[in-house]
Amino acid sequence: MKKTIKDYDLSGKKVIIRCDFNVPIENGSIKDESRLKASLKTIRYARKNNAKVILMSHLGRVKTEEDKQKYTLKPVAERLSVLLRKKVTFVNQTRGKELEEAISKMKNKDVLLIENTRFEDLDGKKESNNDKDLGKYWASLGDIFINDAFGTIHRSHASNLGIASNLPNGLGFLTKDEIKKLTKLTDKPKKPYTIILGGAKVSDKIGVISNLINRADYILIGGGMAFTFLKAAGFNIGSSICEKEKISYCREILDKYPDKLILPIDIITATEMKENVKTHERFINEIEEDEMGLDIGPKTLEVFKQYLDDCKTIFWNGPVGCFEIQEFENGTKKLLDIITNTKAYTVVGGGDTARAAVTFNYQDKISHVSTGGGASLAFLEGTKLPALNIIDEK
Ligand code: 3PG
Repeated sequence: MKKTIKDYDLSGKKVIIRCDFNVPIENGSIKDESRLKASLKTIRYARKNNAKVILMSHLGRVKTEEDKQKYTLKPVAERLSVLLRKKVTFVNQTRGKELEEAISKMKNKDVLLIENTRFEDLDGKKESNNDKDLGKYWASLGDIFINDAFGTIHRSHASNLGIASNLPNGLGFLTKDEIKKLTKLTDKPKKPYTIILGGAKVSDKIGVISNLINRADYILIGGGMAFTFLKAAGFNIGSSICEKEKISYCREILDKYPDKLILPIDIITATEMKENVKTHERFINEIEEDEMGLDIGPKTLEVFKQYLDDCKTIFWNGPVGCFEIQEFENGTKKLLDIITNTKAYTVVGGGDTARAAVTFNYQDKISHVSTGGGASLAFLEGTKLPALNIIDEK
C-alpha cells in the first residue's frame, strides 16, 4: 500500500503538495473551480497538523513568453485564499532568491503557491521532460512531498516524478480517493456494467476499449468518434469528423464484438458547427454529403437508455455531442439525466465530460466525477502511472 500524508508527522515541516490547479481561466476569472475545491481536504489537513504548506501546480501548456500572462496561477492563489479563509502567498517565480526567501519566512500553517511549473518548459521543457536538476531543486525547497495531482499521475514531470524521487513522499486525499473510486470500475465491477464513450477521437479511447471490453457488458459510442465507427460499418457520414487511419481498427472491433459495441441510430446534423445553425434529425443512413453529425439523436437516446436503466456500474468519458453549442447539447444533457436516474454506481471522467456535468448541474447526482481527464483514462487502460509508482510503499 502507498504511503499517504497521514503517515508523516507534518509539524513544523515544509510540505510540498503537488496539486492539479489546471482550471479554465478567462480574463483572470476561474470558470470551474471543482479542482480547487477537491484539493482543499489535503491542504486543510496539512495546516491543521502545523505544516508549512507549499503548493505547486501546472496550468495549461506554456509554449511562448506571451503564454505566461495567460497561464499565471495568480487567480488561483486569490481564489484559494477565499476558499481556505487564509491568505495564500503567491510567488510569481518557479525558482530563485525571491521564492527561497518567501519560503524561509513561512510560519507553521502558512500557505504559499509557487508560479506555474510549466513556465520552466520555456527553457528546454525542463518541467515536462523531468529535468533531473529541476526536480532536485524543487525538492530542496521542502521536507516532505505529497502528490495530490491525480490529473497528472500519468505524466513523468519534474514537479511530480522528479520531486518524489528526491524526498520522502506520499499521496494526498484526493489522489487516494480517485484511485479507490476508479478501481471499482476495473476490479470486479458490479454488473450489468455499461461504458459510454464520446469525444472526438477513437485513438484516445483504444486503450480503454481494449482493457475494459471484456469487463463491461456494453460500450455505447457517441460524439465525434462515432463517425469513424459508422464509416467502418459502411455508412455515408457526409462531412462528419473521421479518423481514416482508425477505420480498420473500428471494423475489426465491430466484427469481434457485434453485440457489445452500440452505435447511434440517428444523428443531429448541420452544415456548420456554430450557434443558430439550421439542424436536421437524420437516421444514420440519411446523412447528406454536406452535413456533419454534431450530436446523437432522440432515438439513439431511447436505445442508450435501455442499456443504462438497469445497470449497476456506469462509466462515461467524452461528451456525445458538441454540448457547448445549444443546438447540440441535448444528447449529453439527456444522458446525464438518464444515468443519474439509475441506481448504478456512476463515474464521469475526462475534463470535457466533467465540465458538461457541471454546466448542466448534475455533478452532485453522480457517484464520482473524476478530476482527471487523461489520467482517468490511463488508469482505466491499465497503463503505467509513473507519478504514482514512484510513491513510497508503507
Ligand atoms: C488535465 O487537465 O487533464 C490535467 O491537468 C493534465 O494536463 P495535461 O494534459 O496538460 O498534462
